[in-house]
Amino acid sequence: VSVFLVGAGPGDADLLTLRAARLLGEADVIVRDRLIDDSVMAYANPNAEVIDVGKMPGDSSSQTAINELLVSLGQRFGTVVRLKGGDPFIFGRGGEELLALHAAGIACDVVPGVTSALSAPLAAGISVTHRGTTRGVSVVTGTDAAGGPVDVRALAATQTTIVVLMGIRHRHHISADLIAGGLDQSTPVAVIERAWTSTQRTVRGDLLSLPDMDVTNPAVIVVGDVAALDLRAMAPWADVVLV
Ligand SMILES: C[S@@+](CC[C@H](N)C(=O)[O-])C[C@H]1O[C@@H](n2cnc3c(N)ncnc32)[C@H](O)[C@@H]1O
Repeated sequence: VSVFLVGAGPGDADLLTLRAARLLGEADVIVRDRLIDDSVMAYANPNAEVIDVGKMPGDSSSQTAINELLVSLGQRFGTVVRLKGGDPFIFGRGGEELLALHAAGIACDVVPGVTSALSAPLAAGISVTHRGTTRGVSVVTGTDAAGGPVDVRALAATQTTIVVLMGIRHRHHISADLIAGGLDQSTPVAVIERAWTSTQRTVRGDLLSLPDMDVTNPAVIVVGDVAALDLRAMAPWADVVLV
Protein backbone atom coordinates (compact mmCIF):
# COMPACT_ATOMS: atom_id res chain seq x y z
CA VAL A 1 0.00 0.00 0.00
CA SER A 2 1.37 3.40 -0.80
CA VAL A 3 -1.41 5.96 -0.09
CA PHE A 4 -3.28 5.90 3.23
CA LEU A 5 -6.38 8.04 3.74
CA VAL A 6 -6.08 8.66 7.47
CA GLY A 7 -8.64 10.13 9.86
CA ALA A 8 -7.00 12.59 12.26
CA GLY A 9 -9.95 12.88 14.63
CA PRO A 10 -11.62 16.16 15.57
CA GLY A 11 -8.73 17.96 17.23
CA ASP A 12 -6.40 16.93 20.02
CA ALA A 13 -3.91 14.17 19.10
CA ASP A 14 -5.09 12.11 22.09
CA LEU A 15 -7.99 11.09 19.84
CA LEU A 16 -5.81 9.64 17.06
CA THR A 17 -5.99 5.89 16.51
CA LEU A 18 -2.74 4.00 17.19
CA ARG A 19 -2.67 3.09 13.50
CA ALA A 20 -2.92 6.75 12.46
CA ALA A 21 -0.09 7.73 14.84
CA ARG A 22 2.12 4.90 13.53
CA LEU A 23 1.50 5.83 9.88
CA LEU A 24 2.27 9.50 10.57
CA GLY A 25 5.62 8.44 11.98
CA GLU A 26 6.37 6.28 8.92
CA ALA A 27 5.18 8.70 6.23
CA ASP A 28 7.45 9.98 3.46
CA VAL A 29 4.86 12.61 2.52
CA ILE A 30 1.87 13.99 4.45
CA VAL A 31 -0.93 15.77 2.58
CA ARG A 32 -2.94 17.62 5.20
CA ASP A 33 -6.24 19.49 5.38
CA ARG A 34 -7.11 22.77 7.05
CA LEU A 35 -8.66 21.41 10.23
CA ILE A 36 -5.70 19.44 11.57
CA ASP A 37 -4.59 20.29 15.10
CA ASP A 38 -0.89 21.10 15.63
CA SER A 39 -0.76 18.40 18.33
CA VAL A 40 -1.45 15.77 15.62
CA MET A 41 1.48 16.96 13.50
CA ALA A 42 3.79 16.29 16.45
CA TYR A 43 3.44 12.58 15.52
CA ALA A 44 4.71 13.18 11.97
CA ASN A 45 8.02 11.77 10.76
CA PRO A 46 10.31 14.83 11.13
CA ASN A 47 11.79 14.05 7.70
CA ALA A 48 8.42 13.84 5.93
CA GLU A 49 7.50 16.42 3.33
CA VAL A 50 4.28 18.14 4.49
CA ILE A 51 1.92 19.51 1.83
CA ASP A 52 -0.96 21.68 3.04
CA VAL A 53 -3.96 21.48 0.72
CA GLY A 54 -6.30 23.47 2.99
CA LYS A 55 -9.15 24.60 0.84
CA MET A 56 -12.54 26.20 1.02
CA PRO A 57 -15.51 23.79 1.40
CA GLY A 58 -17.17 22.60 -1.80
CA ASP A 59 -14.47 23.70 -4.23
CA SER A 60 -14.51 20.90 -6.82
CA SER A 61 -11.62 22.18 -8.95
CA SER A 62 -9.30 22.06 -5.97
CA GLN A 63 -10.60 18.57 -5.15
CA THR A 64 -9.62 17.43 -8.67
CA ALA A 65 -6.18 18.95 -8.15
CA ILE A 66 -5.85 17.12 -4.81
CA ASN A 67 -6.84 13.82 -6.46
CA GLU A 68 -4.18 14.36 -9.13
CA LEU A 69 -1.58 15.28 -6.51
CA LEU A 70 -2.31 12.09 -4.53
CA VAL A 71 -1.98 9.95 -7.66
CA SER A 72 1.34 11.52 -8.58
CA LEU A 73 2.71 11.22 -5.01
CA GLY A 74 1.49 7.61 -4.86
CA GLN A 75 3.52 6.86 -7.99
CA ARG A 76 6.69 8.40 -6.54
CA PHE A 77 6.78 7.68 -2.79
CA GLY A 78 6.63 4.63 -0.55
CA THR A 79 4.24 5.85 2.13
CA VAL A 80 1.90 8.77 1.50
CA VAL A 81 -0.46 9.81 4.29
CA ARG A 82 -3.51 11.81 3.24
CA LEU A 83 -4.49 13.28 6.61
CA LYS A 84 -8.12 14.35 6.95
CA GLY A 85 -10.03 15.88 9.85
CA GLY A 86 -12.37 13.53 11.74
CA ASP A 87 -13.18 10.40 9.75
CA PRO A 88 -12.18 10.23 6.05
CA PHE A 89 -15.58 8.90 4.96
CA ILE A 90 -17.80 11.35 6.91
CA PHE A 91 -18.17 14.37 4.61
CA GLY A 92 -14.44 14.20 4.08
CA ARG A 93 -14.45 13.41 0.33
CA GLY A 94 -12.28 10.42 1.16
CA GLY A 95 -14.44 8.24 -1.07
CA GLU A 96 -13.70 10.43 -4.09
CA GLU A 97 -9.97 10.35 -3.38
CA LEU A 98 -10.05 6.58 -2.98
CA LEU A 99 -11.85 6.17 -6.34
CA ALA A 100 -9.33 8.45 -8.09
CA LEU A 101 -6.39 6.51 -6.64
CA HIS A 102 -7.99 3.19 -7.53
CA ALA A 103 -8.65 4.33 -11.12
CA ALA A 104 -4.97 5.23 -11.43
CA GLY A 105 -3.89 1.81 -10.15
CA ILE A 106 -2.42 3.16 -6.89
CA ALA A 107 -2.62 0.85 -3.88
CA CYS A 108 -4.44 2.51 -1.01
CA ASP A 109 -6.04 1.92 2.36
CA VAL A 110 -8.31 3.89 4.67
CA VAL A 111 -7.83 4.43 8.41
CA PRO A 112 -10.95 5.49 10.32
CA GLY A 113 -10.96 8.49 12.62
CA VAL A 114 -13.12 9.85 15.44
CA THR A 115 -15.72 11.95 13.64
CA SER A 116 -16.74 15.39 14.87
CA ALA A 117 -20.35 14.41 14.17
CA LEU A 118 -20.37 12.21 17.27
CA SER A 119 -17.41 13.45 19.31
CA ALA A 120 -18.26 17.17 19.27
CA PRO A 121 -21.61 16.56 21.03
CA LEU A 122 -19.83 14.25 23.49
CA ALA A 123 -17.28 16.97 24.24
CA ALA A 124 -20.19 19.17 25.33
CA GLY A 125 -21.64 16.42 27.53
CA ILE A 126 -24.37 15.42 25.06
CA SER A 127 -25.20 11.74 24.66
CA VAL A 128 -26.73 11.78 21.17
CA THR A 129 -28.71 8.54 21.62
CA HIS A 130 -29.60 9.03 25.29
CA ARG A 131 -31.95 6.22 26.28
CA GLY A 132 -35.57 7.23 26.62
CA THR A 133 -34.98 10.60 24.97
CA THR A 134 -34.42 9.82 21.28
CA ARG A 135 -34.61 6.94 18.81
CA GLY A 136 -31.26 7.53 17.15
CA VAL A 137 -29.12 10.11 15.48
CA SER A 138 -29.20 11.61 11.98
CA VAL A 139 -26.00 13.16 10.65
CA VAL A 140 -26.49 15.59 7.76
CA THR A 141 -24.78 18.42 5.94
CA GLY A 142 -26.29 21.89 6.10
CA THR A 143 -24.69 22.96 2.81
CA ASP A 144 -25.16 21.41 -0.64
CA ALA A 145 -22.45 20.90 -3.26
CA ALA A 146 -23.11 24.37 -4.71
CA GLY A 147 -22.84 26.07 -1.31
CA GLY A 148 -26.59 26.54 -0.84
CA PRO A 149 -28.82 25.39 2.03
CA VAL A 150 -30.14 21.83 2.27
CA ASP A 151 -33.86 21.20 2.92
CA VAL A 152 -33.90 19.39 6.28
CA ARG A 153 -37.68 19.56 6.90
CA ALA A 154 -38.21 15.80 6.59
CA LEU A 155 -35.80 15.17 9.49
CA ALA A 156 -38.27 16.79 11.87
CA ALA A 157 -40.45 13.67 11.68
CA THR A 158 -37.71 11.11 12.39
CA GLN A 159 -37.68 11.39 16.19
CA THR A 160 -33.90 11.31 16.05
CA THR A 161 -31.25 13.70 17.32
CA ILE A 162 -30.20 15.83 14.34
CA VAL A 163 -26.49 16.61 13.99
CA VAL A 164 -25.66 19.12 11.27
CA LEU A 165 -22.13 19.55 9.92
CA MET A 166 -21.25 22.54 7.74
CA GLY A 167 -24.48 24.16 8.90
CA ILE A 168 -23.36 27.43 10.47
CA ARG A 169 -23.80 29.58 7.36
CA HIS A 170 -27.34 28.29 6.78
CA ARG A 171 -28.47 28.02 10.40
CA HIS A 172 -31.52 30.24 9.80
CA HIS A 173 -32.67 27.78 7.07
CA ILE A 174 -32.12 24.80 9.37
CA SER A 175 -34.17 26.45 12.09
CA ALA A 176 -37.00 27.46 9.72
CA ASP A 177 -37.10 24.03 8.01
CA LEU A 178 -37.27 22.05 11.25
CA ILE A 179 -40.00 24.28 12.70
CA ALA A 180 -41.92 24.04 9.38
CA GLY A 181 -41.43 20.26 9.57
CA GLY A 182 -43.18 20.14 12.93
CA LEU A 183 -40.54 20.54 15.65
CA ASP A 184 -41.42 22.93 18.45
CA GLN A 185 -39.51 26.20 18.34
CA SER A 186 -38.39 25.52 21.92
CA THR A 187 -36.59 22.28 20.86
CA PRO A 188 -33.13 22.44 22.48
CA VAL A 189 -30.11 23.26 20.30
CA ALA A 190 -26.41 23.15 21.10
CA VAL A 191 -23.65 24.43 18.85
CA ILE A 192 -20.18 23.08 19.59
CA GLU A 193 -17.31 25.03 18.05
CA ARG A 194 -13.78 23.63 17.61
CA ALA A 195 -14.49 20.51 19.68
CA TRP A 196 -11.47 18.81 21.24
CA THR A 197 -9.21 21.80 20.67
CA SER A 198 -7.92 24.28 23.23
CA THR A 199 -10.53 26.83 22.06
CA GLN A 200 -13.61 24.59 22.27
CA ARG A 201 -16.82 26.50 22.99
CA THR A 202 -20.49 25.48 23.36
CA VAL A 203 -23.47 27.76 22.80
CA ARG A 204 -26.89 26.53 23.90
CA GLY A 205 -30.36 27.71 23.01
CA ASP A 206 -33.32 26.45 20.99
CA LEU A 207 -34.59 26.40 17.40
CA LEU A 208 -35.94 29.93 17.82
CA SER A 209 -32.59 31.35 18.96
CA LEU A 210 -30.40 29.34 16.53
CA PRO A 211 -30.45 31.93 13.69
CA ASP A 212 -29.14 34.66 15.99
CA MET A 213 -26.50 32.61 17.80
CA ASP A 214 -23.03 34.16 17.64
CA VAL A 215 -21.16 31.08 16.36
CA THR A 216 -18.36 30.40 13.88
CA ASN A 217 -16.93 27.46 11.92
CA PRO A 218 -15.90 24.75 12.40
CA ALA A 219 -18.91 23.81 14.46
CA VAL A 220 -21.51 21.09 14.80
CA ILE A 221 -25.19 21.89 15.43
CA VAL A 222 -27.13 19.44 17.62
CA VAL A 223 -30.96 19.63 17.58
CA GLY A 224 -33.18 17.59 19.87
CA ASP A 225 -34.02 17.07 23.52
CA VAL A 226 -30.55 15.62 24.19
CA ALA A 227 -29.04 19.03 23.31
CA ALA A 228 -30.15 20.23 26.75
CA LEU A 229 -28.01 17.57 28.45
CA ASP A 230 -24.70 18.44 30.05
CA LEU A 231 -23.37 15.14 31.36
CA ARG A 232 -19.94 16.74 31.55
CA ALA A 233 -20.99 18.37 34.78
CA MET A 234 -20.79 14.86 36.25
CA ALA A 235 -17.47 13.87 34.64
CA PRO A 236 -15.49 16.74 33.13
CA TRP A 237 -13.47 14.51 30.75
CA ALA A 238 -13.02 17.13 28.06
CA ASP A 239 -11.09 19.31 30.49
CA VAL A 240 -8.84 16.37 31.34
CA VAL A 241 -7.84 15.94 27.70
CA LEU A 242 -7.39 19.62 27.02
CA VAL A 243 -5.13 20.68 29.92
C1 LIG B 1 -15.92 18.83 5.49
S1 LIG B 1 -16.61 18.39 7.04
C2 LIG B 1 -15.45 17.14 7.54
C3 LIG B 1 -15.93 16.29 8.69
C4 LIG B 1 -14.89 15.29 9.17
N1 LIG B 1 -14.56 14.33 8.16
C5 LIG B 1 -15.35 14.56 10.44
O1 LIG B 1 -15.57 13.35 10.39
O2 LIG B 1 -15.44 15.21 11.49
C6 LIG B 1 -16.18 19.77 8.02
C7 LIG B 1 -17.21 20.04 9.11
O3 LIG B 1 -16.99 19.15 10.19
C8 LIG B 1 -17.32 19.79 11.41
N2 LIG B 1 -16.12 19.79 12.27
C9 LIG B 1 -14.91 19.31 11.97
N3 LIG B 1 -14.08 19.39 13.01
C10 LIG B 1 -14.79 19.94 14.03
C11 LIG B 1 -14.51 20.28 15.39
N4 LIG B 1 -13.29 20.06 15.93
N5 LIG B 1 -15.49 20.82 16.14
C12 LIG B 1 -16.72 21.04 15.63
N6 LIG B 1 -17.04 20.74 14.34
C13 LIG B 1 -16.10 20.19 13.56
C14 LIG B 1 -17.82 21.18 11.06
O4 LIG B 1 -19.22 21.11 10.90
C15 LIG B 1 -17.14 21.41 9.73
O5 LIG B 1 -17.84 22.37 8.96
